[in-house]
Amino acid sequence: MYLRSMLYVPGDDDRKLAKADNSGADAVVLDLEDSVAAANRPVARHKVRRFLDERPHRARNCQLWVRINAFDDSALTDLAAVVTAAPDGIVLPKINGPEDVSRLEHCLDALEVRDGVEPGSIKICAVATETPAAVLRLHEFAQARLPRLVALNWGAEDLSAAIGASTNLDATGQWALTYRWARSAVLLAAKSAGVQAVDTVYVDYRDTEGLATACRESAQEGFTGRVAIHPDQVAPINEQFAPSDEDVALARRIVAAFDGSEGAVGTVGIDGRMFDIPHLKRAQHLLARHGLLPNGTNDDGTPSEL
Ligand code: COA
Ligand code: MG
Repeated sequence: MYLRSMLYVPGDDDRKLAKADNSGADAVVLDLEDSVAAANRPVARHKVRRFLDERPHRARNCQLWVRINAFDDSALTDLAAVVTAAPDGIVLPKINGPEDVSRLEHCLDALEVRDGVEPGSIKICAVATETPAAVLRLHEFAQARLPRLVALNWGAEDLSAAIGASTNLDATGQWALTYRWARSAVLLAAKSAGVQAVDTVYVDYRDTEGLATACRESAQEGFTGRVAIHPDQVAPINEQFAPSDEDVALARRIVAAFDGSEGAVGTVGIDGRMFDIPHLKRAQHLLARHGLLPNGTNDDGTPSEL
């Protein structure tokens, strides 16, 4: 389940829900949290449930996820409403640490049985930087055993509200140090847990050129995907988080060169350039991530290691 683009759609908005089917996003995230006014949540739950019911797995042309509310809010009511319609995954916001993900895993264990949904089929993406405690504890993901967790995502808006900051930007308009630090920590936490690292929203949704540049940099840093809030953001995100034809060709040549040596060498030369074991690993990851290396992927298509 590769997640280059995750398009958020407010769960109570019929016009936007209607646009979700052909968005081209790897995952549509039907939102029950912050894009829905609290008074509209019951309506949103009903609409999201119906949207999923009308699109059973065989009829889905992208993954259908649901962002529920936090555990100290209406998480359980949200889950009780949507699990029966077998979403591909749940986005869990405002976590305090890995134990919240673990709690969600237990809830899903029970609800999948209750509703006759395939056990273990519903995956989790945690929004891991929305409380100060969660940021300080990101290193714990390295040891956490969370079989449903496939991605970590970060966000700056709720963190700045929780901190009591009046802005999350510095004088040059970049993320202030606290948020850059949180972002890097999420990247490392995701890699140490062997899950995908999903970069945050690019709020200026008319500026698709700026978005493409930001995604290119983010992909070079090791992020594997990005949140989208508008359909126009999906194509630039998909493009920038997919490897170029040249990248794929080179990765294939590196893997082939090492395969040819049958484990006897640690370094190869290709077109006058030296490639050693870290290059081989990076090439294998790239091919595995995009489903191009049969031995490098799990049954469900997730990379066995990122
Ligand atoms: N998903 C699906 N369709 C969307 C969409 C989204 N996230 N955002 C916009 N659209 C649709 C609009 O409904 C419109 O279609 P329509 O004319 O048939 O109604 C079309 O795309 C063009 O939209 P546009 O007029 O450019 O934007 P807008 O003013 O309608 O909406 C936002 C702007 C920011 C309010 C909207 O993009 C949005 O709600 N995004 C999601 C916000 C969210 O989920 N935030 C939480 C996660 S961080
Ligand atoms: Mg939020």
